[in-house]
Amino acid sequence: MVMKIIGDSDLKQIVEISKLNLLDFSKISDVNYVENIERTGFFVAPYTLDDLKDDKNKILLGVKKDGKIVAYIWISVDIDNHKYNWCNQKFEKEIFGQKIYNLKRIGVVKEKKGQGLASELLKSVSEYLVDKSIKYLIASVAYSPIKNLASIGFLEKNGFKKVAISPEVPHYKFDNYQCLLLAKRINLN
Ligand SMILES: CC(C)(COP(=O)(O)OP(=O)(O)OC[C@H]1O[C@@H](n2cnc3c(N)ncnc32)[C@H](O)[C@@H]1OP(=O)(O)O)[C@@H](O)C(=O)NCCC(=O)NCCS
Repeated sequence: MVMKIIGDSDLKQIVEISKLNLLDFSKISDVNYVENIERTGFFVAPYTLDDLKDDKNKILLGVKKDGKIVAYIWISVDIDNHKYNWCNQKFEKEIFGQKIYNLKRIGVVKEKKGQGLASELLKSVSEYLVDKSIKYLIASVAYSPIKNLASIGFLEKNGFKKVAISPEVPHYKFDNYQCLLLAKRINLN
C-alpha cells in the first residue's frame, strides 16, 4: 500500500535503500556491469538525509513490505531553468523558466523491480500534485556516457515524452554528462 513518508526513521531508510541503486564508478569500464546497470536503472549521485529534510516542497511517498520501505517516489517543486537542447519548441515555451513538479527520485529495491511498484507510486502521487499553476511533471535521466534505459522505458510507459537533451556538462564524477529531459502533462480539473 502506498503511504506518505513523514517520520525520520522512514526518511533514513529511503536514504539507505537509495544507496543500493547508486552507480559504482569503480566499475564503469566493465561493459557487463554497465550493460546490467543500464537495464536495471541507477542513480548517478547520492543524496543525504539533510537533502531530503531540507526540501520543504517535497512530496514523498513509499511502499512498505513487512515494515520496510521497498519503493519510494520523491517529487519537488522547482523552476526549470536548465539550458537544454530542446527537441520540441512547444515544450520549451511551456516548461523553460516555468514552475514545474520535478521527479527527483524514484527507486525500487532490486527484489521488487518489475512488479509495478514504481507505476503505482506515480499514479498515487497525482493526487498530491495540487498546484493548478503547474502544468508539467518532469524527470531528467542519465543519457550519456551511460543511459538509464530502465528509467526511460518506465517513464515512457507511464506517459512521459522525451522533450530535450542537456549539453555535455560536468556532473558529479562525470566530466561529459548528458541527461534526457522527459515531461508529462498534468491534467488538473
Ligand atoms: C526505474 C524503476 C524505478 C522502475 O521501477 P519498477 O517498479 O520496476 O517499474 P514498474 O514495474 O512500474 O514498470 C516497469 C516498466 O519499466 C520499463 N522498463 C523497465 N526496465 C526497462 C528496460 N531495461 N528497458 C526499457 N524499459 C524498461 C518497462 O516499460 C516496464 O514495463 P513492463 O514490465 O511491462 O515491460 C526501477 O527500475 C529502479 O528503481 N531503478 C533504479 C533507480 C532508477 O533508475 N530510478 C530512476 C532514476 S531517474
